[in-house]
Amino acid sequence: MPKPFYVTTPIYYVNDRPHIGTAYSTIAADVLARYQRLRGRPTRFLTGLDEHGQKIERRAREQGVEPKQFVDSMARPFAEAWRKLRCEHDDLIRTTEERHKTKAQALWRRMLQAGDIYLGKYEGWYSVSSEAFYTDKDLLPGNLDPISKKPVEWVREESYFFRLSKYTQPLLEFYERNPSFVRPEARFNEVKSFVREGLRDLSVSRTSFKWGVPVPGDDRHIMYVWLDALTNYISALGGPVEATEAPMFRRFWTPSAEVVHIVGKDILRFHAIYWPAHLMSAGMTPPSQVWAHGWLTVDGVKMSKSLGNFIPPGPLVDALGADVLRYYLMRDVGFGHDGDFSHRNLLARYNGELANGLGNLLQRMVASIVKRSLNGRVPTPHRDPRELVDEELVAVAKRSALAAARHMDAIAPHRALESVWELVMAANRYVDQTAPWALAKASKRERLEQVAYTVLEALRWLAVMVWPFMPDKAGALNAQLGLAPVEPRIGQDQWPAQWGQLAGGQAIHPGEPLFPRIDKKQEAELLARLTVAPAPTATKARPKSPDRSERQKQTTSESEQAIGLVTIDALQKINLLVARVRKAERVPKSDKLVRLLVDLGETEPRQILAGIGQHYEPEALHERNVVVVANLKPREMMGMLSQGMLLVASHGERLALLEVDGAVPPGSRIS
Ligand code: ME8
Ligand code: MG
Repeated sequence: MPKPFYVTTPIYYVNDRPHIGTAYSTIAADVLARYQRLRGRPTRFLTGLDEHGQKIERRAREQGVEPKQFVDSMARPFAEAWRKLRCEHDDLIRTTEERHKTKAQALWRRMLQAGDIYLGKYEGWYSVSSEAFYTDKDLLPGNLDPISKKPVEWVREESYFFRLSKYTQPLLEFYERNPSFVRPEARFNEVKSFVREGLRDLSVSRTSFKWGVPVPGDDRHIMYVWLDALTNYISALGGPVEATEAPMFRRFWTPSAEVVHIVGKDILRFHAIYWPAHLMSAGMTPPSQVWAHGWLTVDGVKMSKSLGNFIPPGPLVDALGADVLRYYLMRDVGFGHDGDFSHRNLLARYNGELANGLGNLLQRMVASIVKRSLNGRVPTPHRDPRELVDEELVAVAKRSALAAARHMDAIAPHRALESVWELVMAANRYVDQTAPWALAKASKRERLEQVAYTVLEALRWLAVMVWPFMPDKAGALNAQLGLAPVEPRIGQDQWPAQWGQLAGGQAIHPGEPLFPRIDKKQEAELLARLTVAPAPTATKARPKSPDRSERQKQTTSESEQAIGLVTIDALQKINLLVARVRKAERVPKSDKLVRLLVDLGETEPRQILAGIGQHYEPEALHERNVVVVANLKPREMMGMLSQGMLLVASHGERLALLEVDGAVPPGSRIS
């Protein structure tokens, strides 16, 4: 029996709806699960929702509802989004479920029995947005959470502690024995050096609010939301339990299974340090691997619920289908790296790789050659004679399938797709070279059959290999080839390896193009529909009644104008706003210009070009609160659009930025 495979996503906070950032992790886990199923491994795929904690409680209160009612209302949008994205999880756990709470308490008891939990007093910083404790040196200037960039709060209360310090050495030894425990490797090194500095005991309970799992034996306390949340990976399997119950737990949470947690790099510390320490304390096996992928950004800024620059997956799926979005996300972003989401890129890959690549290959062979010149049937293969070009394509197919599998095993889906597309491109070239339409015309039937068979078999391989990424398109492709849909079976490795399995004689079913090309006009329409309109409300001049501006014109006398006096109305026309610098970089080939992406509290950050390159290093500007004129007519400089102006003070050669202290959020009006 092949080794069982258990893959999980983070359980998402339900403080807002799913976006393509959370979709990214879920799709990645689904792709891995499908791939392992295809290889015949018993596979389990878990996702879930993190429903406790102060952040959720506050969000519920803001909405004027009870936390329970709030979380219940949020569960559905997540389940629906995953269904719509064709993510077929075996289970979706919610931390407010009874099956979870009892197991979280069971884990607590085990840690208590191990002597690793004691009562004390916590005093220090707490970030509600990350639900994390921080020390002074972790914080950004202005007491901001280094991850969410939100203000932290000072907490002082009685608290149970977990003896994390005791696990400094055991963790380091565990990392030593498990050199692939964290991926990518660079992140593993960060984790190790953090642990090497020595771990401090961790506060694991709270008394100042109630929305959580009660601490066993002391219900004045609720469990720290991360301890509660991490337990989901075992509670969903029915663990921890003593031997006889919970078959899922015994099958998937043992050293003889492979357990992979897919997480974003923002939450690596919890998974790579706290979680294995909790498990060691409870006498349980840590997971095999924690895979920390990068962040999806929009125009270089992390997409997040709190920044409000998030893209919901729904409209993209409605416009292009789930498979296309899945393909784009897995192909465009190197797994482990940050990647910028771009609608333009998405459409470019759609036309270039899907429509002109795979779609075209199918179309020209099935709907054209086989249908018209081969009576709509798959020819029986002529193994002999075979020309060199045929041999070459078979070799490419084998190389591509081997490489793609190797990349999937190493959890590099972007590389896997690259390898698969080598076959797509080679097969299209093969069609160009062999020119089957000319063979048909010249009545070279035998050669035509050979060529057609070679391409159809390549398409069959491609259908299997793209199935983890694009299950519906793979199904449509197989249907056109007259084949049954891909259906994984435990114990049966279906990854293509043997050439020539396609039976001859069956009817093909030419259908709609797999990926209809999107022309310029459609592209413009799609972009307009899908991207956020670039006319943020804050830039619009305040509505003014016309009679008032009329009046003002009349009352500004010529003499006032001459000595440069303006009335308050004139000043009010200029929209001065506080902006937080999210990104700053030099404009290539200019020593003066700096390109800034600033947050004005709008749905998307704005690009502003400023001539401050000789006075400031761009990196030094990150997260500073500056002042911009927000309603200046956009101006083009060096081929880029500047949507506002940065205010500076100058004296001779010297120049200084106007800054605002952090007491007000981005977008605050200056008057
Ligand atoms: O942290 N790019 O939940 P969360 C890529 N409840 N991935 C992103 C992303 C982005 N812009 N934004 C979010 C929590 N993600 C905890 C987890 S687990 C026991 C508890 C993904 O709703 C990414 O996987 O803030 C990230 O780690 C996760 O969503 C955070 O989701
Ligand atoms: Mg988060």
